[in-house]
Amino acid sequence: MPLIVLPALEAELEPLYNVWFAAFKDQAVVSVLFPEGADRKVQIQYIKEGWGQVGHPIKCVDTDTGDIVGMAIWEIFWRPGEENGWERPDRIPWLSGEDWDRAKGVILPMWHMREKLFGKRKHVYLGSMAVHPDHRRRGAGRLLAQWGIDIAEQLKLPSYLEATFEGLPLYDSVGFKRLSHEKVVLPEEVTGHPGDVEVPLMIKMPSAAKGLDFETWAKRGYPETYET
Ligand SMILES: CC(C)(COP(=O)(O)OP(=O)(O)OC[C@H]1O[C@@H](n2cnc3c(N)ncnc32)[C@H](O)[C@@H]1OP(=O)(O)O)[C@@H](O)C(=O)NCCC(=O)NCCS
Repeated sequence: MPLIVLPALEAELEPLYNVWFAAFKDQAVVSVLFPEGADRKVQIQYIKEGWGQVGHPIKCVDTDTGDIVGMAIWEIFWRPGEENGWERPDRIPWLSGEDWDRAKGVILPMWHMREKLFGKRKHVYLGSMAVHPDHRRRGAGRLLAQWGIDIAEQLKLPSYLEATFEGLPLYDSVGFKRLSHEKVVLPEEVTGHPGDVEVPLMIKMPSAAKGLDFETWAKRGYPETYET
């Protein structure tokens, strides 16, 4: 039976994050961003405050069972300049002390790169994407990705994301391209993986750009419009 994508409701925060935790359970990022002992109330409050501002949480529902099988959070920066709602955060509110020291090695390089590539410029950003392990390869990820891509198309704006290695084939399949002129490399002390890890930074340009790639657009001085 069909899977559908709908806006998630604030009351669904719990099932949404259950899917996220189930999807990411084997990935190091969980213990970095949500270590044992981190203040759950502060996390929930923070997520609620951002709900529907620039961040749009969406859910993928199995219409046979009514279960939420996947989730994503798309951030839509459609206003230009100072008004666009993007602010580089300086910390994660529920992390402090050693927990923050560990997390900032992972998170700060990505925040700085977002600011460099887009910052106050109009764009669409995929902040989070997770499909429950029991429901993989049914097309939920593709539907959740397409939701934001369609909005970026309407706005004639690029979409940006930092991929996990597990997410790469999905993003490739829906037309994202990996950036090569800018890199975020995380050292092994930060990730716990042997050797340096390059985070795949991916952008999908709108069809209005008629094949212009992001690097060329950046070299042109980041013109306001992507229409060529
Ligand atoms: C990445 C993830 C969201 C994919 O979700 P999904 O619902 O299984 O993806 P879909 O079924 O929509 O796959 C769409 C296409 O992506 C590609 N794809 C997805 N998962 C793949 C895999 N494990 N191996 C190879 N290709 C894959 C395929 O081209 C697939 O099309 P096909 O099934 O017709 O061949 C899911 O694996 C997940 O939650 N992983 C853990 C969390 C994570 O890393 N999230 C990404 C954060 S950036």
